[in-house]
Amino acid sequence: MISHPKSFEDLIRQLREMFNSEEVDIEQVKSLMASYQTNPSDWAKFVHFDKFRYTRNLVDAGNGKYNLMILCWPQKIQSQIHDHSDAHCIMRSLSGTLYEVRFRWPESNGSTRLDDLSRMEKIDETKLDSENPVAYINDSIGLHRVENRDPVQYAVTLHLYCPPFTQCNTFDEETGLNETVRMTFDNEPKKAMPTYTVRKMSSVTNMVGEITKEMLLFEQSV
Ligand SMILES: [Fe+2]
Repeated sequence: MISHPKSFEDLIRQLREMFNSEEVDIEQVKSLMASYQTNPSDWAKFVHFDKFRYTRNLVDAGNGKYNLMILCWPQKIQSQIHDHSDAHCIMRSLSGTLYEVRFRWPESNGSTRLDDLSRMEKIDETKLDSENPVAYINDSIGLHRVENRDPVQYAVTLHLYCPPFTQCNTFDEETGLNETVRMTFDNEPKKAMPTYTVRKMSSVTNMVGEITKEMLLFEQSV
């Protein structure tokens, strides 16, 4: 049963509790993250800014099942277009305004022949702010880029990745060519955790065949 988190600590605790279960409902994770009333003094200790790039600050390693982190976006800074290594990504705006720009996977299929390369196709754009604080993406939806377009205001976001991942692919918008990059934390090294694989259970669909609920089932790997 979800109750509105009383504080950031309470949100972290409730997320841990949720992921203690064998089955985790992504919609419930999104609702819980959305229901947190953001209070900067709650999460200030995870905020570290770098003038020239966004920073990733680990909040909770989720006992190996997920990573919860705070990303800090200076003014006029954006991520590269990237995938999510088969993980679920839930992003919650804590401060400021960001844009999530989605792209279709490139069709070059790894080919570097000039004829196969083309500019990546933008499929969607969503504004993330206090009115619309939560976004969700996985690789089957597409790729995305997160942008702080504001020349004055910084932005802070809370991200939950399930399962955790340490590398992803970034893509060049002009050619669709990709590159694998390793990801690190700016606040502390990731501790060794048990590893889990996520098996998706059969989705619940409505009358017109749209997926209305997706459940996750964990299996611990050796
Ligand atoms: Fe992302």
